[in-house]
Amino acid sequence: LAAGIEELVDAEAGNIDRRIFWDESIYNLELERIFARCWIFVAHDTQLPNVGDFLTTTIGEDAVIVSRGEDGKIHTFLNSCTHRGNRVCFAEAGNSRRFTCNFHGWSYGLDGSLKNVSRPQSYSGKSNLDKSKLGLHKARVESYKGMHFACFDPEAPSLEEYLGEFRWYLDVILDNDEGGIEFIDGNIKSRLKCNWKFPAENFVGDSYHAPWTHSSALIAMFGKQPTMRPDRSYHANANGHGWEFGLDFIGNAATLNSPPIIDYLREQEAKFAERLGKVRSRMVGALSSANVFPNLSFLAGHNTFRTWNPKGPRSTELHTWVFLNANAPEELKEEYRRGVMLTFSPAGVFEMDDGENFENCTAVNVGVVTRQQQLHFGMGLDSKIEHEELRGNVYQSQINEANQRAFYQRWADLMGAETWADVPVR
Ligand code: FES
Repeated sequence: LAAGIEELVDAEAGNIDRRIFWDESIYNLELERIFARCWIFVAHDTQLPNVGDFLTTTIGEDAVIVSRGEDGKIHTFLNSCTHRGNRVCFAEAGNSRRFTCNFHGWSYGLDGSLKNVSRPQSYSGKSNLDKSKLGLHKARVESYKGMHFACFDPEAPSLEEYLGEFRWYLDVILDNDEGGIEFIDGNIKSRLKCNWKFPAENFVGDSYHAPWTHSSALIAMFGKQPTMRPDRSYHANANGHGWEFGLDFIGNAATLNSPPIIDYLREQEAKFAERLGKVRSRMVGALSSANVFPNLSFLAGHNTFRTWNPKGPRSTELHTWVFLNANAPEELKEEYRRGVMLTFSPAGVFEMDDGENFENCTAVNVGVVTRQQQLHFGMGLDSKIEHEELRGNVYQSQINEANQRAFYQRWADLMGAETWADVPVR
């Protein structure tokens, strides 16, 4: 299967085989070659401020605990006891001193190390336990400006190298002098009956869908479609991470329909420009969307981060957060929370539009003839440009499929590679 992956994804021509959204065998290889070896976002620093704070989530389908240890660092380890494999934590988030297994009472510390077992006298002689070898299996954890990522592959490049030039773009939202960003309390989880790649590729580059899919919502809100000028908008990508954006300020944030949010962003624009330069300052509130490979998506200005967590080839669990500059007024945080709930939550006007499309793009592949056809990703094949400020691979016009092709190219490169050393640099 891995050897034939280039026949499934021809990113240069823009042809993609539909089986990558449906087949169990491809999905199983994805869990091994994408999720078990890439850097996966697990938590923002502000979600776990105190020693003992933890949350549970998944990396691929591996259940993990993410916790702040007594050393003050963030640790990530499997939520599965080394005795019989039972879950050791059932809560979604909280504060704890230990994670103790329900089954026979083995107890683990905040860094996943085995601390105690029940009836220790039963392990004597040849059965003597070496507790140092029986801790919960740990992932590497590295961070970029408050965002913590975990990786189960010891051979993977550093997070810095993995993000590459995309760090320059991430700074648009992460590198501020307003105390950094804060994840506003509360994480919404919902299920979509779709393959995880459809929403990820939607955020990496698909502004093409916005004026059509969201037509009725946009007309109800503004009386017209948003303007996306080809001469003032771009696709940019690096290492499969991508951001599509215009340079007309306020685009995304306007859909939150909140004058205080627009005022705040306008006030901030001069500060952004001083810190980041003119072009990136205009990306903050412009019409845009982005994805960090494989499954962390976000909207700047609109201020939502989300992860698309695979639950089989036809099911995805969406985790959604609202974020804002940490020093922003409390009322504004509430305003943002309300705005995102109205737009990009399971009950939000835009998310409902999108979910229906993602689900049908997946479900239709039940047809055996349908599944043998290819999908077309050929828009903007000759749109690559050199730009004096923008970094990475840059393409003119946000109505484009350049970032989607780069996303699937990265996917195919990883799926076809035995080890990280075999993954091409593009
Ligand atoms: Fe956890 Fe036995 S399965 S203590």
